[in-house]
Amino acid sequence: MAFFELLRQISAEATNTVIGLVRNTSATEARVIKELGQRSNIHILHGDLDNHESLKKTATIAGGNLDYLIANAGYISYWDSYDPMGKLGQDHERVELELSKLYTTNIAGNISLYTLFMPLILKGRVKKIVAISSSLSDLDSINRLGVQISPLYAIVKAGLSIMNAKFSAQYKADGVLFLTICPGMVDVGHYQDPTPEQAASLQGMMAQFKTYAPHFEGPATTERAIKDLISVLERAGIERGDGGDFVSHWGNKRWL
Ligand SMILES: NC(=O)c1ccc[n+]([C@@H]2O[C@H](COP(=O)([O-])OP(=O)(O)OC[C@H]3O[C@@H](n4cnc5c(N)ncnc54)[C@H](OP(=O)(O)O)[C@@H]3O)[C@@H](O)[C@H]2O)c1
Repeated sequence: MAFFELLRQISAEATNTVIGLVRNTSATEARVIKELGQRSNIHILHGDLDNHESLKKTATIAGGNLDYLIANAGYISYWDSYDPMGKLGQDHERVELELSKLYTTNIAGNISLYTLFMPLILKGRVKKIVAISSSLSDLDSINRLGVQISPLYAIVKAGLSIMNAKFSAQYKADGVLFLTICPGMVDVGHYQDPTPEQAASLQGMMAQFKTYAPHFEGPATTERAIKDLISVLERAGIERGDGGDFVSHWGNKRWL
């Protein structure tokens, strides 16, 4: 799970105060103690993207100023993970249900998150906000690679890039950098125990990845992915023209 690795790497620097918003605070706190020990710079607060009031409460508790906001959480629809648009479209009710859930959590939830934490960011020194997205939502990537699966997830992640760009258009003048980053393909235990048909779909996608990037050997570890993510975030700046951009873990449009 990339969230925990993010927490681990950022909090390794004792001068960083890290606030982690999670749905299950007790489980996360227990894992922090077990795997990281007593890191007094970590604060775990309850925050559910589907619950505006929980985010509001968290922003109030956090108070003060904030240098970085990393919107990592996301609802990932496993229903669309193995099938193309034309097949999913045959179940209209399920498409409506999944899209509604994807939009509620990933778009409406993040709009609330950004809006509620913006006063803290505006008072911060660094003023950087990043949304974690996927190259599956990049138009050029879709057209060049031809990946058919995960279409609903891709549609909503594309919306997330637009959301970020719109926030950037509004707040760039205040010095706030909004960036959308794809961390690459990361091994977080998704795609467990696929059926033979599902495995064939995944293999098809991997073959498309390999054609696009012959060096691609499969998902990265969370450790590697978060290092890359932090490096891209550190290098990015409004002065470099990065405001509102959507980039890969390389910091550009090379997706794998
Ligand atoms: N893994 C990849 O290859 C990959 C590639 C590109 C982009 N991404 C993106 O990376 C981000 C992290 O995903 P991951 O790969 O680490 O998968 P993950 O382990 O499934 O993480 C999803 C995270 O989102 C949280 N979450 C889901 N719904 C939430 C809600 N309503 N409120 C608050 N938190 C919620 C989950 O919290 P709980 O622990 O409470 O469930 C979990 O921490 C996602 O935005 C994903 O789309 C991943």
